[in-house]
Amino acid sequence: MPPLVVVARSLPAAGLDLLRDRFDVASGLENVAGAAAIVTDASVPVDAELLDAAGPSLRVVANFAVGYDNIDLQACRERGVVVTNTPDVLTNATAELALALMLAAARRLGEAERIVRRGEWTGWEPEQLLGRELAGATVGIVGLGRIGSRVADLLEGFSPRLLYTSRRERPGAERRELDELVAESDFVTLHVPLSAETRHLVDSRLLALFKPGSILVNTARGGLVDTEALVRALRQGPLAAAGLDVYEHEPELPPELLELENVVLAPHIGSATRSARDAMARLVAENVIAVLEGREPPTPVP
Ligand code: DGY
Repeated sequence: MPPLVVVARSLPAAGLDLLRDRFDVASGLENVAGAAAIVTDASVPVDAELLDAAGPSLRVVANFAVGYDNIDLQACRERGVVVTNTPDVLTNATAELALALMLAAARRLGEAERIVRRGEWTGWEPEQLLGRELAGATVGIVGLGRIGSRVADLLEGFSPRLLYTSRRERPGAERRELDELVAESDFVTLHVPLSAETRHLVDSRLLALFKPGSILVNTARGGLVDTEALVRALRQGPLAAAGLDVYEHEPELPPELLELENVVLAPHIGSATRSARDAMARLVAENVIAVLEGREPPTPVP
């Protein structure tokens, strides 16, 4: 009998077909007993209980995401289960969304569209919905990994002053400690993984240091930001606006956030382009196939 691969939720055909050609594929975690591989995503917690429900046959958890904060790595290690993710293939898609949110928040696009849709637009106004420009602004990139670096590349046409926090160097940009970066930046965009160390990295203390009138963008993980503190900073300052794709308790959003005009809200669509999602799905399948065929997977989580 071919090994059993259980897809927790769903996987685009670009990857699913590769798995179906070789393995028994079932969907839904209720079928996990006896699985050799589980395909998960950022919304699926992988803990000891799930691993034990799969049992000793389990060899790989392949996350359909670059982030893997949903996975208890220690529990996987203890059971000899390999964990893989999908880096690189979604870098550009996610970086483009970060730019879209910067521009949308700066130009008040959500608020503007709501006015039009409600039929409240009465014509061109000299002082209506004035925003700010990205060109020439100081942009602080928190985390200069793959996605943060791509954001920096894409920003080049806007001739910004670029600040960043990272161990690595970027010529033409200035390294800062986080407190200094937020105090100097007109835009702050988050590109670090969520971990015990980075949970609530942006809390009320840090938000108080942000430059008055600045804009926060988060396409990384909701847990990086203390939502209550964010709501206060959007209501009372120093933030002028925010652009968010991720939330602390997805898909739940606090009503206080939904009521704010100065926040652009997207439903975790950073990697949601056809090309990125197909490439992610193929990489998931390649990871599963490699492990089940006894080879090193292309993108193991370290
Ligand atoms: C990722 O790949 O981590 C995206 O956030 C989708 O979950």
